[in-house]
Amino acid sequence: MRETTLTPGDLIYPMFFHAGLDAPRPIGSMPGVSQLPVGQARAWAKDLLARGIPGVILFGLPEKKDACGTTGLDPDGPVPRVVREMKDAVPELLVMTDVCVDEYTEHGHCGVLKDGPRGKEVDNDATVEILAKMAVVHARAGADIIAPSDMMDGRVGAIRRALDGEGFADVSVLSYAVKYASAFYGPFRDAADCAPKFGDRAGYQMDPGNAREALREAALDEEEGADMLMVKPALPYLDVLRDVRKGTTLPVAAYNVSGEYSMLHAAAERGMIDLDRATLEVLTSIRRAGADFILTYHALRAAELLQS
Ligand code: PBG
Repeated sequence: MRETTLTPGDLIYPMFFHAGLDAPRPIGSMPGVSQLPVGQARAWAKDLLARGIPGVILFGLPEKKDACGTTGLDPDGPVPRVVREMKDAVPELLVMTDVCVDEYTEHGHCGVLKDGPRGKEVDNDATVEILAKMAVVHARAGADIIAPSDMMDGRVGAIRRALDGEGFADVSVLSYAVKYASAFYGPFRDAADCAPKFGDRAGYQMDPGNAREALREAALDEEEGADMLMVKPALPYLDVLRDVRKGTTLPVAAYNVSGEYSMLHAAAERGMIDLDRATLEVLTSIRRAGADFILTYHALRAAELLQS
């Protein structure tokens, strides 16, 4: 009689690969998660599939950063290298890449900056051009799905055109369509070393008080050619996830983000909750609210629990 199912096949595992590492470097604010050396990509691809997890989303940490995030366009950067290794080792693993400049910029913003009337501001259109190039670099390496997380206006259309123009019509776009300016990204910014050095991301990410705007953002990205939409974070926005699910026929993903993950671990470490039960309850609730699949750092443990 159960209305909502949860299987390892519903989960996508986010991973951080660092160009300059020889061994995993644990992320202090995310128990059980590490920055990984590129050399481990093949072994991980096999391991994920063996656990029943069908896909991965990749984040890259380059050796060098600059003002425009140019290392994000390097075909030998950590993400393209890991994509090639993983797709070579396990062709059936679904490999998604996060497309955003924040991991590659010194200032940590999701866009390049320009001088505006009130000081530095993010240059939307210049950023979109870079994102479209980054998407093509990832597609050339073999990525199945491009996931832009920057929230610049017009980037889904630009990425779609760039991919089609280079012959990658069958590479899909998973848009982070509905992404809130959230406190729950805190641990991720350690993990990906991308905390903004000044200001915040409220200029391009959404206001937590807005739900109707989510439907507008989702509809725009759908019109621009997104193949799938994402709502992020998940738990504080389950109502929004439900609305977006009802408002589109596209597949809808939810990102159970770093802060949501670390919060459960912190509470469990202090003996306040049962981590395994809480993990499955959280993931089930995200599915119940309407997510077709979930990006989650809990994927490894959840898959173990679901298979036992
Ligand atoms: C930006 C990006 C972020 C996350 C995924 N892509 C952080 C941000 O917008 O600050 C957050 C994911 C998480 O917290 O797990 N490239």
